[in-house]
Amino acid sequence: MASETDNVTDSWVRISTVVNGKPEELAVPADRCLVTVLRDDLGLTGTKIGCEVGVCGACTVLVDGRPTSSCLTLAVQVDGAEILTVEGLGRHPELQELQQAFIEQGGFQCGFCTSGQLVALASLVLENRLPSMNGEEVAEHLHGNLCRCTGYYGILRAAAKVAG
Ligand code: FES
Ligand code: FES
Repeated sequence: MASETDNVTDSWVRISTVVNGKPEELAVPADRCLVTVLRDDLGLTGTKIGCEVGVCGACTVLVDGRPTSSCLTLAVQVDGAEILTVEGLGRHPELQELQQAFIEQGGFQCGFCTSGQLVALASLVLENRLPSMNGEEVAEHLHGNLCRCTGYYGILRAAAKVAG
């Protein structure tokens, strides 16, 4: 008969992932969200928790290049995947340019939504899609990233600056 301890052990899963270029081997509870693993297990607190139901975009990270709500994603789902969080943006020169544009164009106010906004835009920059997009298309791409400070104009100006 399985003991209580066995059950706990059975509900943990080993995963391999690459986070911001660093390979990570983790044992995680099967029901633990990716955002919790990033923040609590790996100390990457730049990814924020807002609504926890996939609406606000504060928890956005890139999973294999795709903007993903890490509050709705189980850590076990990213086994074998590559994750980019706001802490990893500095590894890419073109994403440093995006961060600088946010600073210059006033792309944030309280900053709570900023990591999600940056990461969502980072997917466009890494795929070199920004130069061919107009402001409306960029805004549409960001429709899942809410800013409670309503600072969208600065964000769109920053994107336009990076787009050239
Ligand atoms: S905290 Fe994940 S979408 Fe709001
Ligand atoms: S800058 Fe405050 S929520 Fe967006």
